[in-house]
Amino acid sequence: VTQVRPAPAGCPVAFGHQAAPPPGLAMEGFQRVDAWRAQNRPAVWSEDGPGYWVFTDGEVILSGLQQPELWSSRVMVPNEPDPPYRWIPIMLDPPEHTPWRRLLGGYLSPGRVKKMADGNRALAIEIIGRFRDRGECEFMTDFARVFPSTIFLQVMGMPIDKLEEFMSWEDMILHQDSQSDPDMSIRMNGMMAVMGYFGELIAERRAHPVEDAEDIVSDALGWQIDGKPVEDADVLNCLLLLFMAGLDTVASQLSYALLHLATHPDDRKRIVSDPSIVPHALEELMRAFPIVATGRVATQDMDFHGCPVKAGDTAQFPLAMAGRDEKAWANATSVDFDREDVRHISFGAGPHRCLGSHLARQELVIVLEEWHRLIPDYELVGTPTEHAGGVSGLNELQLRWTP
Ligand code: HEM
Repeated sequence: VTQVRPAPAGCPVAFGHQAAPPPGLAMEGFQRVDAWRAQNRPAVWSEDGPGYWVFTDGEVILSGLQQPELWSSRVMVPNEPDPPYRWIPIMLDPPEHTPWRRLLGGYLSPGRVKKMADGNRALAIEIIGRFRDRGECEFMTDFARVFPSTIFLQVMGMPIDKLEEFMSWEDMILHQDSQSDPDMSIRMNGMMAVMGYFGELIAERRAHPVEDAEDIVSDALGWQIDGKPVEDADVLNCLLLLFMAGLDTVASQLSYALLHLATHPDDRKRIVSDPSIVPHALEELMRAFPIVATGRVATQDMDFHGCPVKAGDTAQFPLAMAGRDEKAWANATSVDFDREDVRHISFGAGPHRCLGSHLARQELVIVLEEWHRLIPDYELVGTPTEHAGGVSGLNELQLRWTP
């Protein structure tokens, strides 16, 4: 139960924005972001929950994410100023954050990821083969949720036969909105289920170590920071964050990419006729459809780009405000594979920039290449819906082609 604070003096607007709005039709979240940005820069004040800033300008978003001394990530969901959870490493600030980053970086480094390429490509081909002759699929269930999750579970050392259960916990944690989970009980239950599962898995690996294991969970038993063993509670908080960051982000990014390509045949034909454009096309798709809206809390009173921010104010930094900012790109809300500069911050910026970006990029490139080689011509059926919030993505995407 929250009280609405008056909008701070000097801030132009206060209105009914929500950190996690109820589900809507596909692309509505991006359209909402575009409308707020068109009305107000560099921020609007949201009356959602206790009230918070929503930054609407790409440069301001970049500047906030790059200054953790001004904007702490101790709070990541802007309408939850006192979170009853502590995701590691994303909710730690430097210098506490730095050794964690080094610890995790090794598992997701470009070298490690490169070694996975052939296996990941074979997996993509195999999964597409399950439904290609059918001439149709529900892309989210049949492909997008299966492919990256299978890879992620291998990296983590988690059993693939529990994928359904993992996805249901993921759904409880990441896909709730203010109507479906007003008191946060569904999200907290999801997090408790994941932590409980990891707790048991760690106990089992301790009792029966797997020889020469290279996966994260097996390794976590021996993690040290500054020469001291990491406490079990921190290991669990870190595994929880990896679970949330790694399990459905790639699926969500893929959902918007395939929706665009299903509905823009000219762009699709370019990929089919010249697959060498895929890495560049992917960056442009990621620039135009940034799925993450992250949050922070102010560490001090300040004039932040003209906004009278008070210590303890929370803020949302929607990365879509940056990627779709027409101050940075002409026709920013349109996808244009001929655009030369496609440098985006859809993987974040500053000390918390995505640790999984090398793996995510490889997976996304492989999918765009293999999908269009095996199913070059396809169309959208029906009207997909989406969930928005911290990570937005389509709920379903029905596609059809001639087998
Ligand atoms: C297209 C897919 C992905 C996107 C768009 C994405 C986006 C992001 C963003 C924007 C952040 C920074 C959030 C912030 O600053 O508050 C982040 C952090 C992170 N991501 Fe990703 N991510 C993706 C895939 C992955 C994957 C596959 C993994 C792991 C296997 C992963 C692991 C992480 C981790 C561990 C962090 C926290 C880094 C830190 O706190 O230092 N991500 N991601």
